Amino acid sequence: MSNTTTDDSLITTEVQADSNDDRAAPAAGTAVAARDLNVFYGDEQAIDDVTMEIPEKRVTALIGPSGCGKSTFLRCINRMNDMIEICRVEGDVEFGGKNVYGPNVDPVALRRKIGMVFQKPNPFPKSIRDNVAYGLKIQGYDGDVDARVEESLKGAALWDEVKDQLDSSGLELSGGQQQRLCIARAIAPDPEVILMDEPTSALDPVAASKIEDLIDDLAEEYTVIIVTHNMQQAARISDRTAVFLTGGELVEYDDTAKIFEDPEEQRVEDYITGKFG
Ligand SMILES: Nc1ncnc2c1ncn2[C@@H]1O[C@H](COP(=O)(O)OP(=O)(O)OP(=O)(O)O)[C@@H](O)[C@H]1O
Ligand SMILES: [Mg+2]
Repeated sequence: MSNTTTDDSLITTEVQADSNDDRAAPAAGTAVAARDLNVFYGDEQAIDDVTMEIPEKRVTALIGPSGCGKSTFLRCINRMNDMIEICRVEGDVEFGGKNVYGPNVDPVALRRKIGMVFQKPNPFPKSIRDNVAYGLKIQGYDGDVDARVEESLKGAALWDEVKDQLDSSGLELSGGQQQRLCIARAIAPDPEVILMDEPTSALDPVAASKIEDLIDDLAEEYTVIIVTHNMQQAARISDRTAVFLTGGELVEYDDTAKIFEDPEEQRVEDYITGKFG
């Protein structure tokens, strides 16, 4: 455990990693792997030669100071960066043993397998039911849509709160409910991986805590990769933590307890104890 006391503030920062023992051994397989990944926006490099393997059915946290490339890295995994014209990706991102940047990969199909939840809850201006059913309709789902909507809302821990108002607008929900609706929308097409970019930073502590509990449950079934600025959150909910530092360098990646209690790199210790960033 690292303890840092700064002269002027006398703030002691101590982050206790939760062991998440229930998801400990046996070792998980790899869900997503980046190999020699470099990402540029024009001439600016945002990700610098990152290689890492992300275990399946675990929570992996990406942390680091603003601008270090966390969102860029996350968006590489389901090719959301394709939408940014000046963005150029070199290297591989493997999912299901295939390079997602290889030939014959359909980004739309890929995003069904690798769903995403954003910082600001962004339900569609549609009913709760239609929000969740949206992805199913696009994929021409021929099963029981209502049953899948119910299952997804239950999976997102929202069902009990909305089951009597499925036809009202998703926009009428509270911020925390909207974020769980977005999670329900992401899990409805039965993905394998859920990417979350600061999913609780726009929420109050109670709503954030509900999402944290939910993430823990989601990891039973899905691989969760979450960007967070909240060190305590990373320590509480993740099994593995990747620390990016300025310039898009992956500085250290290890079990969460190791990162928070005994990191190898001084720069990581300085970052997580609040010396910079
Ligand atoms: N659409 C874009 N066009 C040009 N440059 C971009 C774009 N998106 C990100 N960048 C640049 O790439 C670098 C990494 O940005 P990114 O958003 O991935 O960082 P981040 O770690 O997610 O930061 P934050 O914690 O503030 O969200 C930054 O220098 C940023 O300015
Ligand atoms: Mg970001």
